[in-house]
Amino acid sequence: MDLFQHSINVILKNQHPEGAYIASPAFETYHYCWLRDGSFIAYSMDKVGKYESAKAFYRWVGRVITRYAAKVNVLEAMLQKGEKPDHRAILNTRFTLDGFEEERSDEGEWGNFQVDGYGSWLWGLAEHVNMTGDKALLQELLEPINVSVRYLQLVWQLPNYDCWEEHPEYLHPYSLASIYGGLKAVASWSDQPQLSACAKMAGDLAGEIKRFLADYAVVDGRFIKHLYPAQKGQPAKPVLNSGVDASLLGLALPYAVFGLNDPAIEATIQAIEKDLHLPGGGVYRYKEDVYYGGGEWILLTAWLGWYYVLVGKKEEAFEMLKWIESTAAENGDLTEQVSEHLLAPAHFQPWLEKWGPVASPLLWSHAMVIILHKALEG
Ligand code: BGC
Repeated sequence: MDLFQHSINVILKNQHPEGAYIASPAFETYHYCWLRDGSFIAYSMDKVGKYESAKAFYRWVGRVITRYAAKVNVLEAMLQKGEKPDHRAILNTRFTLDGFEEERSDEGEWGNFQVDGYGSWLWGLAEHVNMTGDKALLQELLEPINVSVRYLQLVWQLPNYDCWEEHPEYLHPYSLASIYGGLKAVASWSDQPQLSACAKMAGDLAGEIKRFLADYAVVDGRFIKHLYPAQKGQPAKPVLNSGVDASLLGLALPYAVFGLNDPAIEATIQAIEKDLHLPGGGVYRYKEDVYYGGGEWILLTAWLGWYYVLVGKKEEAFEMLKWIESTAAENGDLTEQVSEHLLAPAHFQPWLEKWGPVASPLLWSHAMVIILHKALEG
């Protein structure tokens, strides 16, 4: 089984005609398109020259953001009045494949207020434009680009759900890194007609977010997972017991808030290796994970492998890839997580009963494997 080719096929086969990528076709709860997953998936398609696929995704995102752009006015008004933003004012983290907000029946149970995807799509779009030279696409997407920057300015300091859709009471360095990556992308478009003011604002805000992370998100020389938002005149502060989370890799790659050799990044990676990488196996999200019993995540294992390639540790990267290959189903499909060495085994069955077997194939897992492959090809 050629896992690389199969991964490309899985992604292309599961792209909606309008451009959306379903998170997982055989797992009902994931029958939506997330901006977070989608941006990495589109990036993987760009990496293998499937530019039309990526472009269709960015156009889809553009239409969705334009459709809901008026919410940003509502948000601004609510914030001015000191009100807590609700579903009328936030841009959702996921949408139906034809680009609409889902029914709000599960609103209470699973929050849609996650800000990272609004940075990720801008980061991915810049990668696409760099690889294709398609500046016309930026002109086509002026409105959603402007709306996203305005939205990110308003929300970056508000508590919201993290990239695992948990802990809405905190801020999250991963999410802030995604926003940084997106804003830096916009800042690089200052030469584009009608984007120069937006680019300037984005560049300034990116600088502010980087300082914020350096000032508040480093504890004992490494990055931590959560921050308390500023409150009642008190500045933000770290949630000391929040531990390390593998998503903190995002601060280094792809969002490049800090360099690969930055001491706090190196110390964070060491903590991920020590606390979250099962020797000879995969990478967990974080120690207290109970979702499907807390297994090893394919996409995070590939992400760590990607990091290894960039710092010249090719052997370690190959090991990650080999382990991932060993987990593929006979037809090559990759799951979201592997359940052989669970952190919290008692939690597996309840999830199985609730939502069925672990999502497979998960498009984001396949995307990260493609990215790792291409990085190894160098
Ligand atoms: C993960 C998210 C992901 C979503 C769809 C959730 O379980 O926590 O990070 O975006 O699944 O793949």
